[in-house]
Amino acid sequence: MLASGQHLQQDSDRPSCVKKSSYSVATGQESFCKRICVDFGTSKLAGSWQISYADESFYQEPNDIDFGNNETKLPNAATWVDGEFIFGRELENRLLREELAEDLVIRDAKLAIFADPMTQDIKRQVDAQLGALGKTKHDLVVCILRHMISEAKIAMEDNHGYSHDLNEMPMKLFLSVPQMWDAAANRVMSVAAEAAGAEQCELVYEPLCAAVQVLAEQLKPLHDPRITSWFKPGDEIAIADLGAGTGDFVRYRFLSDETEGENVRLKTMDAPDGALCGSDYINKAFMRALEAAADISALANKLGFSIADLKARVNTGFEKKKLEFRDDKPNYDFVVLGGRNARQNFQKIDVTPEQMRSFFDEVIVDVVNKLKSIMQKSEGHRVRAIILTGGFGSSSYLQKCLTDAFERQNVRILAPRHKKL
Ligand SMILES: Nc1ncnc2c1ncn2[C@@H]1O[C@H](COP(=O)(O)OP(=O)(O)OP(=O)(O)O)[C@@H](O)[C@H]1O
Ligand SMILES: [Mg+2]
Repeated sequence: MLASGQHLQQDSDRPSCVKKSSYSVATGQESFCKRICVDFGTSKLAGSWQISYADESFYQEPNDIDFGNNETKLPNAATWVDGEFIFGRELENRLLREELAEDLVIRDAKLAIFADPMTQDIKRQVDAQLGALGKTKHDLVVCILRHMISEAKIAMEDNHGYSHDLNEMPMKLFLSVPQMWDAAANRVMSVAAEAAGAEQCELVYEPLCAAVQVLAEQLKPLHDPRITSWFKPGDEIAIADLGAGTGDFVRYRFLSDETEGENVRLKTMDAPDGALCGSDYINKAFMRALEAAADISALANKLGFSIADLKARVNTGFEKKKLEFRDDKPNYDFVVLGGRNARQNFQKIDVTPEQMRSFFDEVIVDVVNKLKSIMQKSEGHRVRAIILTGGFGSSSYLQKCLTDAFERQNVRILAPRHKKL
């Protein structure tokens, strides 16, 4: 999740961050502002909220938005049915109940926002889906943000702890964006934020937020007294922000030896770089292999699904196995159950550890190459650590591969302790 309330004294250019003065006690005289943070991920959305003084001289601690049953993430999957916007868990439930067809479910909204040769095919597919629904990308982002804002407001209603009317408070929205995004993609988000009702919107870099969290967690003396002084001013870190979609690669230089949250002073070095090496590309590698080995259309027919529905169900089964991947497990087989009109009750899909490793390796090779490329640009080889952020960053296999690739250069691999990042 975003490090909401962690204000970074960063020296990088855009997007800007507001500077925080010290925490103080609210007297009740001040005007308040509600602050909502949205982590607009490729696969999932998460958010947090807090109340601050309008002049930002005081913040409550941020609270995660709970979407029910202690769930703090919603699948980033959306569509419209008879003009009604259907999103997240509700959409997944309708798919499971076979009340909705997968074909018009938009899952790659985020990848389609950034116009880049890498994501052209995805963009084309999302545009076609939106066209069929009579909607635009702007409509989609606005509806998703409205949904998140309304969830945040529900959470705030009961818990904000002030007698002030929430509706009277202006709303400031913080949206995370990949650092490699260009101004046009960032603008899609800020224009949508305004249309969704935010009086103010601030875009914050995903890798920077996550990296500061990792630094704060990993370098607290409590955790590891040996490395509190690991970074000196002038040292550099390479961040690989690896979620579901594109990987974001950024090199930062420490301007001071502070390593805790808001005190960190980091300068972006070079233009951020990116590649299609998020964890979803492991799923895509698997799907390509499956399509080469099996007749998907015949299988869909036997299990009583459309091809798109079958692929979505196979992907869900594979996803669970992917998260379990370690080098020492005997197999990653899973089963897909047939639908209501199935002629076959289920289909077992076999995945060997060697196959699983090859799907991971296909993506990890890009991660290693991108890291090598940004580290080579460091004059005097100052990169002391690679910080892995995003869900994929928690993969022990990825961490092992990077340790193997970079250990000779005396580079430390730091990864999040919490999968939230
Ligand atoms: N142990 C693991 N091995 C491989 N992939 C993993 C592991 N744990 C999580 N992931 C992947 O991480 C992704 C989710 O991470 P995250 O929530 O950071 O992504 P996101 O915010 O949706 O995407 P992005 O930040 O790229 O837009 C999923 O694709 C998930 O499969
Ligand atoms: Mg993310």
